[in-house]
Amino acid sequence: MAETSKTATLTLHGETYELPVLSPSAGPDVVDIRKLYAQADVFTYDPGFTSTASCESSITFIDGDKGELLYRGYPIDQLAEKSHYLEVCYLLLNGELPNKTELEDFEYRITRHTMVHEQMHNFFRGFRRDSHPMATMVGVVGAMSAFYHDSLDINDPWQREVASMRLIAKLPTIAAMAYKYSIGQPFVYPRNDLGYAENFLNMCFSVPAEPYKVEPALAKAMDRIFTLHADHEQNASTSTVRLAGSSGANPFACIAAGIACLWGPAHGGANQACLEMLREIGTVDKIPEYIARAKDKDDPFRLMGFGHRVYKNFDPRAKVMKESADEVLDLLGVHDNETLQVAKELERIALEDPYFVEKKLYPNVDFYSGIILEAMGFPTSMFTPIFALSRTVGWISQWKEMIEDPTNKIGRPRQLYTGATTRDYVDVSKR
Ligand code: ACO
Repeated sequence: MAETSKTATLTLHGETYELPVLSPSAGPDVVDIRKLYAQADVFTYDPGFTSTASCESSITFIDGDKGELLYRGYPIDQLAEKSHYLEVCYLLLNGELPNKTELEDFEYRITRHTMVHEQMHNFFRGFRRDSHPMATMVGVVGAMSAFYHDSLDINDPWQREVASMRLIAKLPTIAAMAYKYSIGQPFVYPRNDLGYAENFLNMCFSVPAEPYKVEPALAKAMDRIFTLHADHEQNASTSTVRLAGSSGANPFACIAAGIACLWGPAHGGANQACLEMLREIGTVDKIPEYIARAKDKDDPFRLMGFGHRVYKNFDPRAKVMKESADEVLDLLGVHDNETLQVAKELERIALEDPYFVEKKLYPNVDFYSGIILEAMGFPTSMFTPIFALSRTVGWISQWKEMIEDPTNKIGRPRQLYTGATTRDYVDVSKR
């Protein structure tokens, strides 16, 4: 539990209340208002949780002013450069980097859970072929609770661990199946001789009719994309997972809720929306028109891939993503990618424009990820599913942390009611 060394004083209706102030290991102090309603008969009002910490967590830390992101204390750029996704998964889940034996054991266990129940293939076939892969994933991941009955007891640490392994191992299989189904190709079974990212690319792009070899540099870029998206504090989808889990719902149902939340264009859906926007802009000469629209209060248009609730400086993930975009396009021999040129010029102009400077709007992780994924051969509809499979470890780590927290309670916000007060029912003939 965070330390309590200071207090804040609230004066209300002539009464004074002392509120404990908790000191975190990093970040601003937190005023503890848990007893405020009982003591002072008032609620606090904070739609969008802009000033409210919803939980105590020791997994991920963001310093939005410095543009810093830490997983268990390790800076994201170091992990993106030196580590790899499954090691990062172990770190997020367990709090420390694994030693060699622990890592080998973890990788072995994840690899042995990559297949999905064969009956699930029929479930996929119930969807329309043109379903968005996110729609399919929300359904299929939720349905995992109907297939894996032996890992639903959230009070059993062993079952929680098995559910975590299953989710991390099977999400790439499920995302790849959703993709294959949407393009009318046969499902490709996972291959346990391949690495995590390599296996995902193989399940997405190989076909039974001919051999397919995953380019190691592309597998590395894919792995880095997974790492960059692995966790991000109490964002909307993670908070959704925690809220769903706070009622005691099973982990598969909670992750399905997280996937549903991630789909929105203000969150994970921004990578698809961003690439569509860059394509719509099309050429560098059109950029001023779109910048003007983004600044116009009467136009709902926003620059997708720009801005962030927490980062008020460069999103550190966007920096790594930009380097990766150059590397991947180079590797694929794409030297005159118009979308990348539009992206770079848009970034340059926006970063000099007083509107964006004053509002501290910088490119976020989604600004460059779409360009890389498109170059790898993914359609835009797969961008958010890839985000979802990468984020699963973050969701599950946060869910596990919540279940293991003795102070955990069902999440139940209060409200500022502005509706009608008590009134009598009027019969329909008299209305
Ligand atoms: N383009 C133009 N103006 C913007 C943008 C943008 N992308 N983002 C914010 N603004 C402006 C708003 O109009 C607002 O201006 P005002 O103060 O004059 O009214 C101000 O900046 C603050 O914006 P809010 O919406 O209040 O900021 P909030 O923290 O609620 O929103 C969000 C953050 C949702 C990410 C927002 O910046 C946005 O919509 N960005 C585009 C979508 C996007 O890229 N989302 C991905 C986020 S990262 C992720 O989920 C992985």
